[in-house]
Amino acid sequence: MTAQTITITQPDDWHVHLRDGDMLNQVAEYTARQFGRAIIMPNLAPPVTTTALASAYRDRILAATSDYPDFQPLMTAYLTDSIAPEELVKGHEQGVFTAAKLYPANATTNSSFGVSDMKGIYPVLEAMQEIGMPLLVHGEVVDSEIDIFDREAVFIETIMAPLLKDMPELKVVFEHITTKDAADFVASQGDNIAATITAHHLQINRNDMLVGGIKPHLYCLPVAKRELHRLALRKAATSGSKKFFLGTDTAPHAIGAKESACGCAGIFSAPHAIEVYTQVFEEDGALDQLEKFASLNGPAFYDLPVNQKQISLVKESQQVPATIGEGDLTISPYQAGEILAWRLV
Ligand code: NCD
Ligand code: ZN
Repeated sequence: MTAQTITITQPDDWHVHLRDGDMLNQVAEYTARQFGRAIIMPNLAPPVTTTALASAYRDRILAATSDYPDFQPLMTAYLTDSIAPEELVKGHEQGVFTAAKLYPANATTNSSFGVSDMKGIYPVLEAMQEIGMPLLVHGEVVDSEIDIFDREAVFIETIMAPLLKDMPELKVVFEHITTKDAADFVASQGDNIAATITAHHLQINRNDMLVGGIKPHLYCLPVAKRELHRLALRKAATSGSKKFFLGTDTAPHAIGAKESACGCAGIFSAPHAIEVYTQVFEEDGALDQLEKFASLNGPAFYDLPVNQKQISLVKESQQVPATIGEGDLTISPYQAGEILAWRLV
């Protein structure tokens, strides 16, 4: 008997951290070997805030992925309190900036230059609305009195909903959603609002991170929530709704930075991302919806053509390596040492 195989349009990853320098050179090919395109997060230090910085970063990514010449990095601008609308509009028109990323100041890794006052960037958001440039949102409030597990839900109420009231035509991607609240909110909105969902948030809840000893490699932001939220995310991803699409939020940190008294947030899921998503869809009896989520809904939202190529996955088990990379840059990948059900051909 031959193993079960599925073939789909090549997917894209709509939320990726590739870092820079040696780390970029180490991790980029894991994304490029699976995905046709990837939305590249701009949270470098210093952040990617100008077309010049983005073009130069894109060139470094292309050099790091030269074994995959068809791979296309799609660049994003990092919004700050002082970014000029003209810089974004120019970058979008020149095809340098596909979208712009909103980090509330200090919400996550390398976000200290993020936005501290939404009203202050309204001229920028109005310009984006005008030209149809998507806003990608890290949807968590940063108020110290708000519990970390409530930060996404409170963000919807206090920032996202008022913003969409003021900018009803703005295209918004609610990135890496982790709650039923966010899934329901996105589903209730117009076609200009969509969301990405990571592979790990479809698989883990907060118990996986905290019960039986703390698992620093399962810590990311937004942090995994309780089981009811994980189930709601699986329902949204596998529903066939065009509002939900693949975004891994793969975010490599060296082992030393994760296994620390103050460990960094981020899960390096790039190496086997499409295989993990495939397993989730199979478990939920929704393999027929995988292509929409992974390969069709994202391009439709971004007004881009779907990829020409196809990929195949075969139902053959494989073991995730214990570590990836070398020396100071060694990383523990998502599900290190575990057995996956599917393999990318
Ligand atoms: C990301 C990172 O490390 O850059 N970390 C994470 O936990 N997801 C930043 C982010 O997307 O929040
Ligand atoms: Zn991210």
